[in-house]
Amino acid sequence: MSLCDIRNSIHTEAFLVSHPANIQYLTGVNADGSLLLMRSHGCTLFVYALEEEIAKKNVQKGVCVRLMPAFEKIFKNIRSCGIESDRISIETFMNWKRKYKNTKFVRYVGIIERFRRQKSPKELQNIRFALSITEQLLSDVAKQMKRFPTEKELAWMLECQARELGADGMAFESIVAFGSNTSRPHHRPTDRRLKKGDIVQVDIGARYKGYCADRSEVYFAAKPTSLQQRIYDAVREAKEEAKAAVKFGVMTHTLDQIARKVLRKHGFEKYFCHGLGHGVGLEIHEGVSISSKGPDIPLLKNEVITIEPGVYIPGKFGIRLEDMVFV
Ligand code: GLY
Ligand code: MN
Ligand code: MN
Repeated sequence: MSLCDIRNSIHTEAFLVSHPANIQYLTGVNADGSLLLMRSHGCTLFVYALEEEIAKKNVQKGVCVRLMPAFEKIFKNIRSCGIESDRISIETFMNWKRKYKNTKFVRYVGIIERFRRQKSPKELQNIRFALSITEQLLSDVAKQMKRFPTEKELAWMLECQARELGADGMAFESIVAFGSNTSRPHHRPTDRRLKKGDIVQVDIGARYKGYCADRSEVYFAAKPTSLQQRIYDAVREAKEEAKAAVKFGVMTHTLDQIARKVLRKHGFEKYFCHGLGHGVGLEIHEGVSISSKGPDIPLLKNEVITIEPGVYIPGKFGIRLEDMVFV
C-alpha cells in the first residue's frame, strides 16, 4: 500500500505510522519502536539497530529500511504530516512538536485499521491455519480433563500443544475457568483443580505468522444440571442464529440484536454483559465491534469476525460459545 492508496483519507504531505500492527501490515516487519513514513514517492521504515537485519530480511518490496537516527534529518523537511493520534503517547507527541516546529501535525484515527478489516487471501490463509490449530486444541480438552488438572495446568498443556502444532505463540492470554470461576468472562487461570461436576470454560487462540484465532467452548465434567443445559442450549441458539445472519453488508447492531433476542426469549438476556463479537486479524480485537453500544456499521467482504454470546450468572457459572466467521 502506498500513500496514494490512503490519499482519499488524508490531506497532508506525509503520513507517519507508529502502531506496530499497522506497520506489520504495511511492511511485513514487526520491530519494536519502529516508525513508517509514507510519502507520495515511497515509504521508509525507520528501525533501531537491534532490528535492522531482521527488518531488511522481512520487509516488503518497495519499502526502504533506514536506521532511526536518519528519521530526524528527513522528517524536519516535512511541512504537514498525518499521525495516528490514538496510537502515540502525549509525551511522544509533545516531543515531536518541540523538535519539528515547522511541521503541522494532523491527527487521524483508524486510517490503516480501516484497510486492515478486509483480509487478503494470504491473510485469510494465516488466520485459517491459526484457527485449525485452535480447533485441534479444543478437540483435546475432554481428554485432558480426565487427568483432573488445575486451570493453570490445562492452559499450559493447551499452549504447549499449540506450539507443537506450529503456532508462533498464543493470540491472547488463555482463559481456562472451572466451576464458579466461569461466571467471570475474562477469568485468568488459577491453581483451582478440576472436580467432578465442574463446568469448564476454555477461550483460547493460537497465533500464526502474526495472525490470531479466537474460539470458546464449554465442557462438563459430569452431566450438566438442567439450568446449565438450558443456558448452554440458549447460548448455542443465539450463536447459530447470529452466525446464520452474517453476510457482506449486514449491520453490526442487527447481529447483536439477533443474539440478544434469542437470549431474551429464553429469559437470559440480562446476563449477557458484553458485545456479540469483534474483528480479528493481526490483533485479537481489531476493526469492527459487534455491539449495539458501538457504531452501527456494515460488515465488509473478507472481514473476519467472532460471534460470542455468553450468559454469566454471578457466583454460579457462565457459558460463552465463540466461533470465528469469515464474511
Ligand atoms: N478471547 C477474548 C475474546 O473473546 O474477545
Ligand atoms: Mn475469545
Ligand atoms: Mn473474542
